[in-house]
Amino acid sequence: MFKLDHKVFKNSIISIALLFGASLQADLNTGASKTYANGKRVIDGGVTYPVKNGRTGPYFVNTQKKEFHYGRPATKNEIKAWDIDVMPDGTGLPEGKGSVEEGEEVYEEKCIACHADFAAGMNGYPALAKGNAYELHKTLTNQRTTPDKDGPVRVFGTYWPKVSTLWWYIKTGMPHNAPLSLSNDEVYALCAYIMNLNELKYEGEEIDEDFVLDREKFLKIKLPNENGFIPNIDGPNGPDNVRKFFADPKNYGNGTRCMHGCKKGSKVVRIATEINDFLPPMSTKRDLPKEESKGGKSDVGAKIYASTCAMCHDSGAAGAPVKGDKSAWEKIIKAGKEKAYENAIKGKGAMPPKGGKTSLKDDEVKAVVDYLFEQAK
Ligand code: HEC
Ligand code: HEC
Repeated sequence: MFKLDHKVFKNSIISIALLFGASLQADLNTGASKTYANGKRVIDGGVTYPVKNGRTGPYFVNTQKKEFHYGRPATKNEIKAWDIDVMPDGTGLPEGKGSVEEGEEVYEEKCIACHADFAAGMNGYPALAKGNAYELHKTLTNQRTTPDKDGPVRVFGTYWPKVSTLWWYIKTGMPHNAPLSLSNDEVYALCAYIMNLNELKYEGEEIDEDFVLDREKFLKIKLPNENGFIPNIDGPNGPDNVRKFFADPKNYGNGTRCMHGCKKGSKVVRIATEINDFLPPMSTKRDLPKEESKGGKSDVGAKIYASTCAMCHDSGAAGAPVKGDKSAWEKIIKAGKEKAYENAIKGKGAMPPKGGKTSLKDDEVKAVVDYLFEQAK
């Protein structure tokens, strides 16, 4: 059945983000707190796989290839951290407010460099507005019968079905170079400004300079293409018509199917460049899903570990024994815990006393050593 809904639209953006290794992290009201390892955000109670060069990644890749061995069940906290959608019904949308004027200020400071004056777009950076959205909007019904020629102008105001996607996209993805850095109020202000540039209306009134957007108003704003984003397939043969349309390559691109080198003249049928950098890099070492937090002693150890010790012990920097690497810990465990406590507290070789954080209490360092011993069992 041909169905493209709001969720699918958003998920496709998420998978693109995933492909390029963007780290999306719960920063809304999800409860999954932030910790940092190797300077990267990781999810509490999530699983990462240590990989080369101090990098960690969320995937386990089986290089033996004897059988399919991809993936594992996601932990609760991992699901929580991914479940950061803002839905059209308001699910996931926090309180907050911001005016068009404030939005313009934030825009000029943080967005204009890429999206240009009045969000008109430039150098391949997308436009966020093209003028009056009500006048410019065209539905996918047109796109289906004559693609490109009179297809919709593809910007937020004219094309997107729901405003909720705008809030979510800005909050989690923008600015492109510093995602998740904006406050909720800043996001509301930016949405207000972008709505103003698209000349959208709130309850029949144009969204002008003085307009202040808040959660309640936000959820009432409708986009002109709300019902046109999904192809309008009338009548009993609707789905078949759509299938037939997409089965004929003449109806899109330059009339040929292809998977690579698809740029013909100025037209691109499919993605023309190949992805040659895979992030995160592949890992052969696997750690098992961590226990959900019980607030116990090993939990304290794990927390301190993540903030103070992981930078060396996740990657093996300077010859540090890698967490969970049994062979690396075998000797240390044999020498006994007391010795390990002493070395961790006083330092040893390239290992600085207390991992460099001398404000830690001896007992706290010991808790981390206990944790490291557990991980190496
Ligand atoms: C460093 C460059 C850069 C900066 C700064 C930046 N963006 Fe973007 N923005 C992009 C790129 C690149 C895309 C397209 C991403 C894609 O398609 O995968 C994009 C896409 C978007 C989109 C989706 C557009 C669409 O129709 O698909 C919105 C909305 C957006 N940006 C808003 C903002 C806002 C608001 C700011 C300021 C807080 C901002 N951006 C700052 C580069 C940037
Ligand atoms: C700057 C990098 C670095 C940091 C940060 C760091 N370590 Fe180490 N650690 C090392 C290195 C290198 C070794 C191996 C030392 C050797 O055997 O010469 C080591 C070894 C150890 C050992 C084994 C000691 C033994 O008995 O052989 C323990 C236990 C340990 N570290 C615990 C910790 C704890 C706990 C923290 C955080 C509080 C921490 N480390 C932070 C680099 C680091």
